[in-house]
Amino acid sequence: MRDLDRSPDHLAPEHLAPELLAWYDRNARAMPWRTSPADRARGARPDPYRIWLSEVMLQQTTVAAVTEYFQRFTRRWPSVQDLAAAEDAQVMGEWAGLGYYARARNLLKCARVVATDLDGQFPDSYDALLKLPGVGPYTAAAVASIAFDLPETVLDGNVERVMARLHNIHAPLPGVKPVLKQHAATLTPVARPGDYAQAVMDLGATICSPKNPAFGICPWRAPCQARLAGTAAELPKKTPKQPKPTRLGAAYLARSSEGCWLLERRPDKGLLGGMLGWPGSDWNEAPEERAPFEADWQDLGGEVRHTFTHFHLILQVKVAQLPEGFNITPGQEVLSRHVFQPSELPTVMRKAFDLWSGSDFNPAQG
Ligand code: ADE
Repeated sequence: MRDLDRSPDHLAPEHLAPELLAWYDRNARAMPWRTSPADRARGARPDPYRIWLSEVMLQQTTVAAVTEYFQRFTRRWPSVQDLAAAEDAQVMGEWAGLGYYARARNLLKCARVVATDLDGQFPDSYDALLKLPGVGPYTAAAVASIAFDLPETVLDGNVERVMARLHNIHAPLPGVKPVLKQHAATLTPVARPGDYAQAVMDLGATICSPKNPAFGICPWRAPCQARLAGTAAELPKKTPKQPKPTRLGAAYLARSSEGCWLLERRPDKGLLGGMLGWPGSDWNEAPEERAPFEADWQDLGGEVRHTFTHFHLILQVKVAQLPEGFNITPGQEVLSRHVFQPSELPTVMRKAFDLWSGSDFNPAQG
């Protein structure tokens, strides 16, 4: 008989965490912020700063995408005090491409609160963590459990899927979230809660995957009610989302003969808040002209397509020569080609730049 098929007693909730932890001991994924279960067993503890930073980055973003950003951030700002002392524009520039830019603005606010008001120490309780800027229930639970080994319950998309399948729950998300949270809380052990939190997330990310769950190697194969019912692949159910509307806009790329670019820092509030971008129109149902100055604006041809949380965007991209001695208005910046870094633009703005780079308007082409 295989380990996974032992007696029904094995299905009792108190056995589930030990089964999962035994699996995690053998299969924990290596991540640059993670303390391995073997190192934890030897008494090693993660740095709360690195756990907090990684968990903020991991919201809405994959481990693969986050890894490089995390390494760049921690090389440049090894401690929360270093990050707190950074300039806003530096942090927004490093965050560019990760999306959901409110996270970066809150990240900096939170670092400054921890560095200034808390003597550089992250609080070691769920309730105190929850009071920090940008820290919601997920991040508070993740930092409390992973960094401080407290028995708090993390509920991300992976854990939701695992719980819905384990208990064969068909009520749809997001309404069913509190039920899934309750199940997740019931299973959270007092022993090794930090490893356990990461183990459930790893299980959801690897074995209990959305499309083809790998029952054969799942440590929770025996108790999984959806496997028994044959419904795992359809869970969790989701309330259908409203289709996304498409909005239209224009971006204006103005470049001087020396290769300087005209850019604008977007207001802190709103979409892409605090990020650099091209001057442009609002994004609406109908296209609008909103050139930053009068000129013979040429259409680059082609268009930029980008999808945000609530809408698709199609951008026309226009180019003109930036006049000598152009007078900038508040919020505008003229960046020389030595200072301008396309990697510091949010993805939609980078796509507009890439369109220009590959066009005949780029003097380096042809
Ligand atoms: N997803 C978000 N945080 C994670 C973590 N700490 N381990 C695995 N997957 C995660």
